Amino acid sequence: MAKWHFWWEKEFSDVYENIYVRTFVEDWFNIVQITANEVSWPKILDIWCWEWHTTKQILDRIKWDYLCDLVEPNKNALINAEYFLGIENNIWDIFNNTLAIFEPKNKYNSIFTSHTNYYWAFNENDYKKQLDKLFWLLENKWKLLILTLPEESDHYNIMLRQIYPKFNYSDYIINYYKSIWLKTRTIRFKMRMYIGDILTTKSLFDLKSFYRFIHNTDSYPSDKEAIKFLEKIKKYQKDNYLDFKDDLIIITN
Ligand SMILES: C[S@@+](CC[C@H](N)C(=O)[O-])C[C@H]1O[C@@H](n2cnc3c(N)ncnc32)[C@H](O)[C@@H]1O
Repeated sequence: MAKWHFWWEKEFSDVYENIYVRTFVEDWFNIVQITANEVSWPKILDIWCWEWHTTKQILDRIKWDYLCDLVEPNKNALINAEYFLGIENNIWDIFNNTLAIFEPKNKYNSIFTSHTNYYWAFNENDYKKQLDKLFWLLENKWKLLILTLPEESDHYNIMLRQIYPKFNYSDYIINYYKSIWLKTRTIRFKMRMYIGDILTTKSLFDLKSFYRFIHNTDSYPSDKEAIKFLEKIKKYQKDNYLDFKDDLIIITN
């Protein structure tokens, strides 16, 4: 898996490996299918596609002709994305950029972005600039699709401390676009994560890996910190699953 080498202050590596295994695939592919159904015009942009997986899952389910541009800040991830998506999907142009410095050659009819808003900005003002920028990248009849977590997500419930500022929550995004008179519609999904393995072992390795993912850190926690985290997981789990939930925010003019 490619590592990313920018924003060194926040850099962490290899923490996604176990997360894909935990996701309840029926929940995720329902999200993918409905997102694909909502992408409805030909010029598409995927903001921060990482290596290709989610992008391919969505593009594969679009039934009409499209052209899709990719923006991704990690160069190696983008190289992989261009290669793998080039086999079966209609990729138009690729851009090795952050959202803040991305300068498009064209404007788009549909923009989608899946679980990337947490990394757009360090402060609220810069974050609002990115929300405005997305709007500026669109033209004519358009749709902006942002997939992100709601405040009620178990992802946020089990954190031992606030990691992501509240402007990352889906409600903030919805209210922001409403405040500038755009139309918003939100589809709330289930997104369950299996943690039964963590609950049935005395070993701490998987618990600590999961801790790193949830707390967006490269460092492994102490045993004491990991046990505190386990208590939170136990509190919120239902039948060996956490429900991260997911909101698809659909913004139109
Ligand atoms: C959670 S992945 C989502 C990727 C893809 N859209 C998907 O849904 O699978 C996060 C994306 O944000 C980018 N990113 C930027 N800064 C990041 C950071 N500090 N930590 C993790 N990802 C970061 C990564 O390059 C990656 O494309």
